[in-house]
Amino acid sequence: MIQSIQPAEKLTGTLTPPPDKSISHRSAMFAALAEGQSVIENYSPAADPASTLSCLAALGVDLGRDGDRITVNGKGRKKLIKPAVMLDCGNSGTTMRLLSGILAGAGVDAVLTGDDSLSARTMKRIVEPLSQMGGSITAKSGEFAPLKISGHHGIRGMRYPLPIASAQLKSAVLLAGLYGEKPTEVVEAVPSRDHTERLLGLKSEPFGTGKVIRSSLSDEIPLQNYRVPGDFSAAAFWLVAGSVRPGSEIALKKCGMNPTRTGAYQILKLMGADIEVLNPGMAGSEPVADLVVRSTELKPVSPDPALVPNSIDELPVLMVAMCFANGISKITGAEELRHKETDRLDAMGKILKAAGADFELSEDGITIEGSPSFKPKPVQYPSFHDHRMAMAAAVMATAAGRESSVLDAECTAISYPDFWTHLSELSA
Ligand code: S3P
Repeated sequence: MIQSIQPAEKLTGTLTPPPDKSISHRSAMFAALAEGQSVIENYSPAADPASTLSCLAALGVDLGRDGDRITVNGKGRKKLIKPAVMLDCGNSGTTMRLLSGILAGAGVDAVLTGDDSLSARTMKRIVEPLSQMGGSITAKSGEFAPLKISGHHGIRGMRYPLPIASAQLKSAVLLAGLYGEKPTEVVEAVPSRDHTERLLGLKSEPFGTGKVIRSSLSDEIPLQNYRVPGDFSAAAFWLVAGSVRPGSEIALKKCGMNPTRTGAYQILKLMGADIEVLNPGMAGSEPVADLVVRSTELKPVSPDPALVPNSIDELPVLMVAMCFANGISKITGAEELRHKETDRLDAMGKILKAAGADFELSEDGITIEGSPSFKPKPVQYPSFHDHRMAMAAAVMATAAGRESSVLDAECTAISYPDFWTHLSELSA
């Protein structure tokens, strides 16, 4: 689908961002591992969390869905069954990596596959530690899906210093650790998103600049009802659009505000963005708040690389914000962007080039010379079938002088099925 985007003089209105994708995946998996019935409210309607549900169903988990309400009858961590079909994780790295941790831990025979994008992403980072723990897991060429998991002779707990600040890797190891008598300890130097440890109530303690988190067979998997907060990563598109389009004011209701997710909020604040945080509260173990963004002239910023893991999914749209800032911004330490649904540094380079921005890519980041008077060219943007690329290009296009478009725009359904509707409502 080719989506046309009209220039938006300003963006105004109130909306609720879609339910958080990371928390949706985890709530379904953890409810499946608990013993008894859990209800998940506000489960994401997007394609990635749907992949998690269909994989769980294939593993024998009894699930019911009524709109955004999911009922899960968990049978306990050891009762997953060998699926009759391959587990199709679609486009979802979180589904593949977290489920691999669970299945390698449980020793369930299964094969996990994905779409072309997921099949080109490295899984070596999980295969290595899960094998060291005694899991039986192999990958195509040692690195790629399909992943084959089979029975094993027991999980050995281990101490694992995370070589990459990745919540998917951290979670895969901790979830396998739930099957070991001896504790698994994951040492994290730079904090990555902490939904797994929060939702499971895993023990952790500070360690240097980061923390050490433990899991073992003796950790009870809590039987609980979940309420998924709004996805901060989705809200970030509106925080940028509302900042850069003069005269804008957008209110975003019930956004997840977990500090390990809100690096983009901190970066935008450093840029001088006008974002008000209202009604802070909790949705279960996760902080939430309403946000109001009003347009303002942005300053350039060179974010501390320590903020990168907490803004990893928002960096593409932050690059759009940097095009409108008054001077030179520089992102470093973001090599991980090359390992997402597409190489997001390369893809953003193509999007910024098409828009006519002034920038230079490096191996681990980008330098952008922005200007508040920057006028993106009205062009047809590629999306690289990557939801976040399509949405970042759309935010850019709102500032063009004439109609622009985005190719393969249906990919936004991976995380944000209502994105195009919300864009037209806010632009009206
Ligand atoms: C996610 C973690 C991040 C993020 C992804 C979702 C998660 O990946 O990019 O969209 O739910 O744990 P990494 O942990 O590999 O950086």
